[in-house]
Amino acid sequence: MTANTALNATPVPAAIGPVILLGAPGAGKGTQAKLVAARYGIPQISTGDILRDNVARGTELGKKADSVMKSGALVADDLVQPMVADRLGRLDCDHGFILDGFPRTVGQAEWLDKYLASRSFGGRVRRPVVINFDVGYNQLLQRLTGRRSCPVDGKIYNIYSQPPQKEGMCDSCGSPLVQRKDDREEVISERLKEYGRQTLPLVDYYRRQGSLHEVNGELSVEQVTRQTLDVIEGPAGER
Ligand code: AP5
Repeated sequence: MTANTALNATPVPAAIGPVILLGAPGAGKGTQAKLVAARYGIPQISTGDILRDNVARGTELGKKADSVMKSGALVADDLVQPMVADRLGRLDCDHGFILDGFPRTVGQAEWLDKYLASRSFGGRVRRPVVINFDVGYNQLLQRLTGRRSCPVDGKIYNIYSQPPQKEGMCDSCGSPLVQRKDDREEVISERLKEYGRQTLPLVDYYRRQGSLHEVNGELSVEQVTRQTLDVIEGPAGER
């Protein structure tokens, strides 16, 4: 079954709660978040994308985040959390949202727990479904060095596993594809170390809460999508 078939085959629930995608850089969070967001018509909230947009627009937040992101470190919690609160406060989050790249420190996870407990979405307080994509180190390296993306519509490609039809060009809009500045090998290695230090502990954090679901992120994009939808539309999604 292709991703499109999987996406078309199952009925869309009226409202789903918050979905959190966990995983190392390159695990496929962005790729899957876009597919899931399209399936349910809910927003994909990628803190990396919001920060990159701020950098591109030269905002105060962008100026503070730029050098940190180029080094592969994490932007400070007290800059990221208000940014997320601002985004989650918008009406389009009322019937669910998918978080891609947040939380990624225990401090951010504790903050998010308090935030979610303090407000209702579509009239109900919803516990998040947390899905962790597990991918080995060598596969992560190959995915990150091979990643290209469209600066106009955000579509993600990979020169090894998901090449565009015409080399270097977006299939949807024809724009020239770009490589992210932090996808250079020396920065990738820092990002992966930072992931091990700061984000990996969240797997245990959510396991202890009983919210964690594991998906083998090394499977094909279509298989990962299928398993992700199974989690969201299974008992875990009926909160
Ligand atoms: P962010 O943009 O969040 O990057 P990341 O977490 O490092 O994750 P990536 O976007 O690199 O990978 P992904 O898992 O989305 O993989 P993708 O789907 O693209 O963060 C960037 C920076 O911003 C951070 O370093 C930090 O400085 C800052 N930041 C962001 N959030 C923050 C926060 N909460 N707190 C503090 N700082 C924060 O896939 C990768 C490649 O693999 C693609 O080419 C894709 O085509 C391919 N691929 C995907 N799935 C598969 C598959 N199943 N099989 C084969 N190939 C696949």
